[in-house]
Amino acid sequence: MADKTLNVISICGSLRKGSYNAALARALPSLAPAAMAVTPAPAWDKFPIYNADIQNSTGFPAEVTAWADAIRSADGVIIVSPEYNWSIPGGLKNAIDWSSRLKEVPFANKPVALQSCSGGLLGGARMQYQLRMALTTLDALMFGKPEVFVNFSAKKFDDKTLALTDQPTIDMVKQQLAAFAKFIERHGGKG
Ligand SMILES: Cc1cc2nc3c(=O)[nH]c(=O)nc-3n(C[C@H](O)[C@H](O)[C@H](O)COP(=O)(O)O)c2cc1C
Repeated sequence: MADKTLNVISICGSLRKGSYNAALARALPSLAPAAMAVTPAPAWDKFPIYNADIQNSTGFPAEVTAWADAIRSADGVIIVSPEYNWSIPGGLKNAIDWSSRLKEVPFANKPVALQSCSGGLLGGARMQYQLRMALTTLDALMFGKPEVFVNFSAKKFDDKTLALTDQPTIDMVKQQLAAFAKFIERHGGKG
């Protein structure tokens, strides 16, 4: 039993208005256990493409610093992302790359869980594998099982409202969030 609310932020890898991943991220607060609050991380869509010359001349963009600060001050992070060409969407990878150059890397020792929605059979599994590797090199504390892969995602959400309607998916997400809360508590959250 948690003695405080766990403050978890969600990061979405898709910018699309009708994004299934964004729809799943929006559903998380209602699926989280009582001891966990889930709020969206600041946007990463205005980050310039990483270039060390920017970092060395004008410094880290304010948007990068705000994103990193939010990650640092969270007890845990849930990344909800599509798979692009068997891999991590470029915009999300760019955000992670920027954050990795900060002196205090925000993902270091941070509990991180992964979720993905895709139109295909594998539900973004290949993207998750690569994201797991990239974040492991940043010393993130990667949550293991249960995993959340939402395949054939158009069938799992309401056509009009984009509410998550598929009960097995709802159950799977709830189970992961409950286990992630225990994982965060075991690892001390942000300490
Ligand atoms: C550039 C691009 C590459 C894609 N590559 C894959 C892929 O490798 N595997 C897959 O399952 N789906 C792939 N898709 C389809 C996405 O799973 C699908 O468009 C999904 O709905 C995108 O997520 P979103 O709804 O959150 O925007 C790709 C889509 C785009 C736009």
